[in-house]
Amino acid sequence: MELFDVYKLWPIEPIKAKGWKIWDKDGAEYTDLYGGHAVISIGHCHPTYINMLQEQLNKLGFYSNAVQNSLQKELAAKLGEVSGYNDYTLFLANSGAEANENALKLASFHTGKRKFIALEKAFHGRTSGAVAATDNPKIRAPFNKTDHITFVPINDIIAVDKWLSTGEYAGVIIEGIQGVAGIFEPQKEYLQEVSSLCKKHSALLILDEVQSGYGRTGKFFAHQHSDVTPDIITTAKGMGNGFPIGGVLIAPHIKPSYGMLGTTFGGNHLACTAALAVLKVIEDENLVENARVIGEYLIDSLSKLPVFKEVRGRGLMIGLELGQGYEGLRDKLLFEEHIFTGGAGANVIRLLPPLNITKEVADHFINTIKKLTE
Ligand SMILES: Cc1ncc(COP(=O)(O)O)c(C=O)c1O
Repeated sequence: MELFDVYKLWPIEPIKAKGWKIWDKDGAEYTDLYGGHAVISIGHCHPTYINMLQEQLNKLGFYSNAVQNSLQKELAAKLGEVSGYNDYTLFLANSGAEANENALKLASFHTGKRKFIALEKAFHGRTSGAVAATDNPKIRAPFNKTDHITFVPINDIIAVDKWLSTGEYAGVIIEGIQGVAGIFEPQKEYLQEVSSLCKKHSALLILDEVQSGYGRTGKFFAHQHSDVTPDIITTAKGMGNGFPIGGVLIAPHIKPSYGMLGTTFGGNHLACTAALAVLKVIEDENLVENARVIGEYLIDSLSKLPVFKEVRGRGLMIGLELGQGYEGLRDKLLFEEHIFTGGAGANVIRLLPPLNITKEVADHFINTIKKLTE
């Protein structure tokens, strides 16, 4: 059997990694400023992560959600403490799309309404509800087409007000910082106004922190830069450092009932252990602060380089919009300089590195950009 051919693959096969370094099958070394798409939060093959997972694997890998699992409770308590959302509850899923799917469903259950506002250029995943709220018709099958979603431009509060005042909307879903779109941040005042409009019209504010969460932007969640408290927060990517896990953080006024949500694999023993290891390392190594400091340094230094038309983002979630004539820079970084980065369209390079990169790694990137473009 052949693979269903849906991914355009680079001709590189990583077989080993440590921290922010990757080695391919021919032994060539790479610097990882992409983190497998913002997934590698604490660095590849972190010893704490390996030890905790190995220990758990020797005890119990999986049992269903029909029995007690104190690892889930431990994870909920720790995530509440580290994120500042102690009074929220946690539903565990397996991916970002699934977390968003459950968030949309939950908001709909809670409000009894079916419509949502999402932002233009948004990406929320590929399951039915999440892809409907994703502003990319190319990845929406006829089966996924619905009139439940209204797209509005980012930072346009009048548009949000207009639609919410119809009273037909269950909620608004917004990425902490838009990732796939090319790193665009909702303004602080805008998020605050969306939050109060949601309250006024009995709708819920859902913050998709799947890419921007877990310390990446220099706070645990990106929306915490704006002092808003969403009703629902979704998370995945960095949560398991590569082990598939997603989470929905739910405000105390939203009440559960048996059978309302569910999953076979979500919250399994290995996934919870991976997520606990990630939180332990984030705390022990002060990685949220490191993301803030190294991110500020990178953004400040890269903003001064003429190759970039614009440098956007916060912490270690950075979008570098290329000036004209530099469209091939990402390929050069990868194939000539062995530096992995992400992309968004033809002219934005995205940096989503492990949160433990050092100033030396940042300098290596800055100097490489200078070398390639001067
Ligand atoms: C903001 C955001 N939400 C949701 C998703 C979907 O996550 P997953 O691919 O784990 O389903 C992504 C993935 O890129 C994302 O960036």
